[in-house]
Amino acid sequence: MPGAQRKNMIQFESKPPPLDSVHSCSKKVIPIRVLILRDYQSLSERAAHVVAETVRANPWAVLGLATGSTPLGLYRELVRMAQEGRVDFSRVTTFNLDEYYPIKKENPQSYYYYMRQNFWEPAGIAPGSYHIPNGDPADVAAECRRYERKIKDAGGIDLQILGIGVNGHIGFNEPAEKLQAETHLVQLSEDTIIANSRFFEKAEDVPRHALTMGMGTIMKARRILLLASGESKAEAIRDTVKGSVTTMVPASLLQLHPRVTVMVDREAAKYLLG
Ligand code: GLP
Repeated sequence: MPGAQRKNMIQFESKPPPLDSVHSCSKKVIPIRVLILRDYQSLSERAAHVVAETVRANPWAVLGLATGSTPLGLYRELVRMAQEGRVDFSRVTTFNLDEYYPIKKENPQSYYYYMRQNFWEPAGIAPGSYHIPNGDPADVAAECRRYERKIKDAGGIDLQILGIGVNGHIGFNEPAEKLQAETHLVQLSEDTIIANSRFFEKAEDVPRHALTMGMGTIMKARRILLLASGESKAEAIRDTVKGSVTTMVPASLLQLHPRVTVMVDREAAKYLLG
């Protein structure tokens, strides 16, 4: 790979952090484009810029959306832009990655509730244009098939937003010897239950299962933007970007995708430099 091209693999949006070792980074072949941002706010603004540009270029864009604490800043920025009339989400279609199981959508801990509150409604997504797996279906397998079909019928996902779990999961595709391609029911790992218990009163309240898009569903997105903030994600980001492609770090499969951008703040980039 020519040097100039390699240098572009890691780019700084702002002044590089003091431990700047971009030179040693540029010697490594890192196939995923990584943008290192100064802090969480810059990360959120930069991600919002990418989403807004996608929607301006194609007002009917199909967006894949994520939950968790990481995309909250992105949603806040997008809502602000929508309310200021700088971007119009009224014609987009959205598909969320995952939902707990079992959970009713009225439950404030559901991802449905989170999305309605933080993005769909304030951003002006048309009712009927946002989709998320039903966390309380009569027939789980039928719900998974229905969700997969809906995505296909919408023409697939143009831009998929991802967060990442501390163990390298994306959506709720947990590390395992085998990963599933399509939307499916998954048992959450102990790491994930512990990490997500901060959103619940008690760890016992965290659902033990979820419905999630599969790795194939995610990999079919035409463009992928993975966001990570904070030191707790640094190892997962290192393994995703620089590690072997392995089902034990589901996000590492993104190395096989032709159009992925990883946006991280300095803390999450800790092990990428040097
Ligand atoms: C959950 C979600 C993931 C998300 C992850 C990280 O497990 N299913 O989609 O990426 O949490 O969450 P956070 O951004 O809060 O660290």
